[in-house]
Amino acid sequence: MNAISEAVERAKVLLEGAGSVSELRAMEPEAFGKRSDLAKATGTLRGLSPEERRRLGRALQEARAELEALFGRRLAELERQEAKQRAESERLDLSEHALLARRAGGALAEGLAQPTQRGHLHLVTQVREELEDIFVSMGFEVAEGPEAEDDWHNFQALNMPAHHPARGMFDTFYLGAGGEGSALLRTHTSPVQVRLMVSRRPPIYAVVPGRCYRRDTPDASHLPVFHQIEGLVVDEGISMAHLAGTLDAFVEAFFGTGRRARLRPSFFPFTEPSAEFDVTCWVCGGEGCRTCAGSGWVELGGCGMVDPAVFAAVGVDAERYTGFAWGFGIDRMAAARTGLADLRDLVDNDVRFLTQF
Ligand code: DAH
Repeated sequence: MNAISEAVERAKVLLEGAGSVSELRAMEPEAFGKRSDLAKATGTLRGLSPEERRRLGRALQEARAELEALFGRRLAELERQEAKQRAESERLDLSEHALLARRAGGALAEGLAQPTQRGHLHLVTQVREELEDIFVSMGFEVAEGPEAEDDWHNFQALNMPAHHPARGMFDTFYLGAGGEGSALLRTHTSPVQVRLMVSRRPPIYAVVPGRCYRRDTPDASHLPVFHQIEGLVVDEGISMAHLAGTLDAFVEAFFGTGRRARLRPSFFPFTEPSAEFDVTCWVCGGEGCRTCAGSGWVELGGCGMVDPAVFAAVGVDAERYTGFAWGFGIDRMAAARTGLADLRDLVDNDVRFLTQF
């Protein structure tokens, strides 16, 4: 009987001392399982009288039950402890932020600090809004259209029937929807011209800023996801001189008087005549560099007089109306304004870059 109570005491010390669930479980055989003093004592019962055996047998059972109960309590305790530790270690420590905020609050109240810096509009968004303001002040309205387009609006109505070679200028992302090749991510903002002319009668004076997509490998002057601002004027008596005058006024409003711009004869299926619109390179000032591919000029986009074939597709009377249109890259204009040498900086999401603007 003494040996049993000593064994129980020893086992209790073991179980109480276990520091973790796994340590506790590892102790089970030694405390009251196969390798325990209790198990050994059970083996000695055989040599005793039936009465002694019964008495000691019951005492052993009670001892084991007591230890099992203790084991259960310790297990629950340790499991609870470990869950708490886990939660603690996975907790996000926001105390530093709270501390900084409190300090800032105090300093603010004493007039010693600026408010915490907040985010702001992305450079491209700022430029887009500025462009909208410039054209609104010139009498244009701002319109928008969908980024997922169909083949008719993006190509066919713009005088590019299926397999037209000019489609090669627009490396297109096609979408799985609709018939094969019919749904796509718009490659330019020009499909919105089509939507405007289909849905209303001239006069139309509108600009359309928006996101466009092309399967271009990103480089210093190309992004596969980029922004354009389309312009469309349709009215009676509109000539190429109105286009040139509008662009002059725009260049002066956006860049100031310092920058030179030029129109260069070009081709687009949806304009006739067509021109490309260049400004002097903002990185080298015209000397030739990586940004302008050595030419000294950077193309901002295309423009021209709306082709009568487009008027025919959208149902505008080409005998009565003429018009001009343009599509310029907003990202490039943002780069031109800020002296940015590589468009990829615009999408890297580096806060050190973004906070400068
Ligand atoms: N959509 C053309 C492009 O992305 C640019 C363009 C050229 C737009 C002439 C026009 C235009 O509206 O008249 O390359």
